[in-house]
Amino acid sequence: MSPLTAIVTGASDGLGKSFALELASRKINLVLVSLPASGLPELADYILKNFELKVTIFEADLTVAESCTSLFDFLKNSGLTAHILINNAGLGNWSWFGDKNPGFYKKQIELNVIAPVLLTHLFLAQLDEERTAYLLNVGSLAGKFVVPKKQVYGATKSFISYFTRCLQLEMENANISISLLSPGGINTKPELLALNHKLKGIAKATITEPNRVAYEAIHGMFLGKREIIPGGINKLMVLLNSILPQFIKAIIIKSKLKPVIKM
Ligand SMILES: NC(=O)c1ccc[n+]([C@@H]2O[C@H](COP(=O)([O-])OP(=O)(O)OC[C@H]3O[C@@H](n4cnc5c(N)ncnc54)[C@H](OP(=O)(O)O)[C@@H]3O)[C@@H](O)[C@H]2O)c1
Repeated sequence: MSPLTAIVTGASDGLGKSFALELASRKINLVLVSLPASGLPELADYILKNFELKVTIFEADLTVAESCTSLFDFLKNSGLTAHILINNAGLGNWSWFGDKNPGFYKKQIELNVIAPVLLTHLFLAQLDEERTAYLLNVGSLAGKFVVPKKQVYGATKSFISYFTRCLQLEMENANISISLLSPGGINTKPELLALNHKLKGIAKATITEPNRVAYEAIHGMFLGKREIIPGGINKLMVLLNSILPQFIKAIIIKSKLKPVIKM
């Protein structure tokens, strides 16, 4: 059978880059998508030198809806069918609602919500029904817990969670495996590293490394897991979240995140 081809959005950095390397180590051909001038050609070169597979890059701003259509037109014209879609590109923040301008939130919703919906629709439409396909949507624990300074971001991730779970139900009998990744904090960039460093105890223990998250996510996706929550503490937190009353959760979250909420 010919090798699988995976689209990874937001592949130039952070978790997306780790996804690209994890898939490359499994000899899966790659279509890497990110903003122009974000280092995709360099990443593709590195992968081509170190792994035997095909790498295609597509540089585009996914907050522009037409970019999603252009990506699939480009794949069609290149004779490529994608078997895996990883909706990873996302814009996070850690700020009081009033501290960001409306344009920021619009962009966040376009990238975290609209792009994954459009890409998923286009991806499903081009599938070869004979071959098992995989969809991995990157959510967040922020979509499960109501956390101050994560108001719009958390809501976009709740959307991703609902969207993914609903598709799982709708497509139960189709030849596709649909997974939701719900990670806690990931040390993907220096500013997050600095922020995560301030956390203590359980809050600190929820933080994971991108390579580990990518490994667990791809492993879980191929096993057909419906939801992948990297890290034992994070799984426990999600369990507690389903049991504890809202006011107790609010007290715990405020006390555990005190060092970063104050900032
Ligand atoms: N980091 C965490 O703590 C954490 C926790 C839970 C969930 N997540 C989720 O995990 C995913 C990846 O997060 P991350 O921390 O790895 O993010 P990141 O380091 O900021 O990387 C995001 C990637 O998306 C690309 N990107 C940004 N805007 C784009 C646009 N308009 N069009 C196309 N590509 C764009 C970025 O390109 P540039 O390099 O050019 O900016 C980068 O490659 C996100 O969905 C995030 O919500 C992250």
